[in-house]
Amino acid sequence: MASNSSQPGFKIVDPPNPSWTYGQKVDATPEGREWLEGEKAGWTTVNASAPEDAKKLFLLFSGIVPRPIAFVSTISENGIANIAPFSWFNQVSSSPPVISVSITRNADSRPKDTLRNILATKGFTVNIISEAWIAQANAASIDAPEDVSEWPLSGLTQEPSIYVKAPRVKESAFSLELELLETVDVRDPVSSKVTTTLVLGSVKYIHVRNDVLDARGSVDPGKLRTVAKLGGILFAKVNEGYNIPRYSWAEHGKQIQELESTQAKA
Ligand SMILES: Cc1cc2nc3c(=O)[nH]c(=O)nc-3n(C[C@H](O)[C@H](O)[C@H](O)COP(=O)(O)O)c2cc1C
Repeated sequence: MASNSSQPGFKIVDPPNPSWTYGQKVDATPEGREWLEGEKAGWTTVNASAPEDAKKLFLLFSGIVPRPIAFVSTISENGIANIAPFSWFNQVSSSPPVISVSITRNADSRPKDTLRNILATKGFTVNIISEAWIAQANAASIDAPEDVSEWPLSGLTQEPSIYVKAPRVKESAFSLELELLETVDVRDPVSSKVTTTLVLGSVKYIHVRNDVLDARGSVDPGKLRTVAKLGGILFAKVNEGYNIPRYSWAEHGKQIQELESTQAKA
């Protein structure tokens, strides 16, 4: 398999079942058979709308994984700079480039500082965390009062942005400057209170450190050494991967149709 990372920090290994062919079932390999054996333990089914099952919704944190983390920098109307990590984060569009970050309300239903600042100043930065400074980024999630900036306690450095007022994180090798595009409030179906706000941000500038780029101009995972979020306080290293080809109907459609007609006759 071709390697897309020359770095010792990221190992390219063979994909599971590299000789898979169209229609091959999961039980065709020892790993697949072992995986299917797990079903013997039965299933737990949670009705996500039933109040008595509400506590089980914590399952979502450990089941929807791994999540990328947006380390969000904002600034208040009064000029207080704020940083906090958010793992309900992703790219939602490439043309135009748009990302999403989802922010819950505080226990007393107040918006978190990050949301309040985004709504007030319409701009923010998202900074991708690397292992070397995960401790600093994690500390910034502390529930500091509104008038306390997390920057000094985190030990991280502000770098002025060129489009938005909020600084970016100098230690981050990959940062985005974003303009608020839209927010969507998620409400409790019974009380109608807003519980969470989804923020969409338009990417205005991308800052990437040259030393994390590969020869093709993509970010090399072995150089970026980012982290992923799992359930609870569990984080994951991003240090091993494999390439799996994208299949194309133009290339394989005939073969797939032949297979399907053989299966239909059997
Ligand atoms: C790794 C990590 C991921 C987090 N993801 C989210 C998230 O997606 N949404 C959210 O509302 N809070 C999330 N939090 C909690 C916020 O970071 C925390 O509430 C923080 O204090 C908010 O800061 P602010 O009030 O300054 O905006 C996360 C915390 C950590 C450590």
